Amino acid sequence: MSRKNINIGLFGFGCVGFGLYEVLLKTPGLKANINKICVKDKNKSRPIDAGYFTYDKDELLNDESINTIVELIDDADAAFEIVKTALMKGKAVVTANKKMIAEHFTELLELQKKYKVPLLYEAAVCASIPVIRNLEEYYDNDLLESLEGIVNGSTNYILTKTSEDNISYADALLDAQKKGYAESNPILDTGGFDAKYKLLILLAHAFGIVLNPEEIFNIGIDKISDLELKYAREKGYKIKLVAHAFKTGLNTVSAFVAPRFVQAKDKLFQVDDVYNGVVLETVFTENQFFLGKGAGAYPTASAVLSDISALSYNYQYEYKKLVSNKSVKFNNDFTLKIFLKYEVDKVENLRLYFSSIDESYQNNTVGYLIGEIEFIHLQKLSRIEGVSIIIDSVIPSSVIETDLANVLKNEVESLV
Ligand SMILES: NC(=O)c1ccc[n+]([C@@H]2O[C@H](COP(=O)([O-])OP(=O)(O)OC[C@H]3O[C@@H](n4cnc5c(N)ncnc54)[C@H](OP(=O)(O)O)[C@@H]3O)[C@@H](O)[C@H]2O)c1
Repeated sequence: MSRKNINIGLFGFGCVGFGLYEVLLKTPGLKANINKICVKDKNKSRPIDAGYFTYDKDELLNDESINTIVELIDDADAAFEIVKTALMKGKAVVTANKKMIAEHFTELLELQKKYKVPLLYEAAVCASIPVIRNLEEYYDNDLLESLEGIVNGSTNYILTKTSEDNISYADALLDAQKKGYAESNPILDTGGFDAKYKLLILLAHAFGIVLNPEEIFNIGIDKISDLELKYAREKGYKIKLVAHAFKTGLNTVSAFVAPRFVQAKDKLFQVDDVYNGVVLETVFTENQFFLGKGAGAYPTASAVLSDISALSYNYQYEYKKLVSNKSVKFNNDFTLKIFLKYEVDKVENLRLYFSSIDESYQNNTVGYLIGEIEFIHLQKLSRIEGVSIIIDSVIPSSVIETDLANVLKNEVESLV
């Protein structure tokens, strides 16, 4: 198949934008060149020829020689306007902006369909790990059972520091901020929102479910105290912020983001620092594990490059699961085992939320309860001041086990 020439109008020349410029220089085989770059700050000095730059987005969007817009800016609202206009003008788009995609997923689907143009965004989830394209192409059947991932590099760095260096959450956050891994206002990362945006995108490609960000429950790592860190250390666990989507029945899927105790036997245990990792579980393969850098100029630019290369072969997401899994519904009807820490003077009657309690502890100031709880109660508990929650495990539903057994039985019967 012959490759199309890609003439790029690039938005943003920061960490990823400049990374892409350099990566493209090193891949001359790809017939892709940057025609023009739009940035924001007129007073910033630029590392390449000034002739490349403009501050007027229409110079790129109205340029008919540009057939591809690569959007790499850090402002989700402005990014949406750029991406929307580009699609309406029939230009293919590559973006790394998970917040923008998650907040406008349905509209972006409609725009792609209406104007018959591709929008690719591999870099938006786990940067260098090609998880979206794999979900689209390799896992294009309905045998995927669960997807769990460490999808946010800065929180993973913070949690790795607390575990390896035996320091508090506050000190680890400070260290991450000094190294540029966390923003000065880090709540998008530490509150689990960034991970939720990525999970929303993964849900569409893994299970064909399209949601709004408010529909996915997230707890972050920002309430973790020394008590949880000490408990994890004593047990040999690590705490990881995990985005989890899983089948709870043949036609139901649940999903949430929360900190989790991860044991040494778990694949995610080895995902440290700014690395990301994703474990996919299917009916027949048990599990498969993807590991890679989840941020940084070159790892992210390499995913953008791969999308540009895919466009040169006219690739576009087919959203196969959205079409084939129409009967699959999202619900949060399941049970978990959790570790709940509480401040003694702020809360009472917490036991009432639990269906069973395995272990409890309390001193004059703090205490914890470990036990089983329905997801709906977890949502209520997370809003109580003085409470912090770590997931121990999701309790497998007997319904899904029966369903699974039936699927396997039918497959085997069809073979004989
Ligand atoms: N950094 C990573 O490791 C990483 C990983 C995965 C995904 N991403 C995503 O990639 C995107 C870019 O991130 P980044 O780290 O490269 O950001 P960055 O270093 O902060 O750079 C942002 C760039 O966007 C430009 N910009 C901002 N508003 C603009 C506007 N309205 N019009 C034109 N240009 C505008 C800025 O212009 P000036 O240069 O004039 O200030 C700057 O060049 C974000 O969506 C981010 O979430 C980043």
